[in-house]
Amino acid sequence: MKAAKDYIVFPLDVPGPDAAKTLVNLLADNVGMFKVGLELFIRSGPELVRWILQAGSAKVFLDLKLHDIPITVKRAMAQVAELGVFFATVHCGESRAMLEAAVEGAGGRVNVLGVTVLTSVSPADVAEAGYREPYSKDLQQLVMKKAAMARDAGCGGIVCSGQEVQGIKAVFGDGFQAVTPGIRPADGGVAADDQSRIVTPAMAIRRGSDYLVIGRPIRDAADPRAAARIIAAEIQGVLNEQRMRSKPLT
Ligand code: C5P
Repeated sequence: MKAAKDYIVFPLDVPGPDAAKTLVNLLADNVGMFKVGLELFIRSGPELVRWILQAGSAKVFLDLKLHDIPITVKRAMAQVAELGVFFATVHCGESRAMLEAAVEGAGGRVNVLGVTVLTSVSPADVAEAGYREPYSKDLQQLVMKKAAMARDAGCGGIVCSGQEVQGIKAVFGDGFQAVTPGIRPADGGVAADDQSRIVTPAMAIRRGSDYLVIGRPIRDAADPRAAARIIAAEIQGVLNEQRMRSKPLT
């Protein structure tokens, strides 16, 4: 069974390997997964990913957000799969063929997540890019449309905000993984920063999130390990409630 800490994905949003390794050593026992993004991967590459995997039991989420012609994405994803990471991302772009190619390249060795609509994108941006109504008016509908494309292509899940997760789970079911950034603990005293559409860890779990990407509330805390433990305790509280509810009465 997944432990509370396994729901926490910590993004290694640092420019180089030394800072990344310090954070991995500090947090390896308190989070379930480390997310490596473009900045760190361009600098430190597969070698750092292998180092993280050897450093402890935490998994790796390689967030490269691939987007290219299908054959290129397939070949890139096959290389990603060689690294032994747990999640990898691909944009839900214009064609389902690209997503299918990503899944084919993964060959069941890595779970492919679709990135639906970036949270930095506004309805005006989408309209300018040529999307028609209702998608240019209501990004939630665009998220659902792109999630359907990801599901139909065989992706294991998507990245979405805590405000969208309930709708995603209702339509696509429990098996379709929802990974949620934009998490801010209620009592953490941490600013929303540049995140919009934020939810607390407990809210995200109640709505059905399978993994929570939580960066600054942990990294910027006076004691990052303690911050991760407090978040895990909050998650555990919700898991206990859910298990109590699903226990048959005797
Ligand atoms: O918790 P914090 O805001 O620091 O987390 C930032 C991380 O969440 C970054 O690694 C960023 O890539 C990721 N992310 C995001 N918004 C999305 C998707 C991912 O902030 N829509």
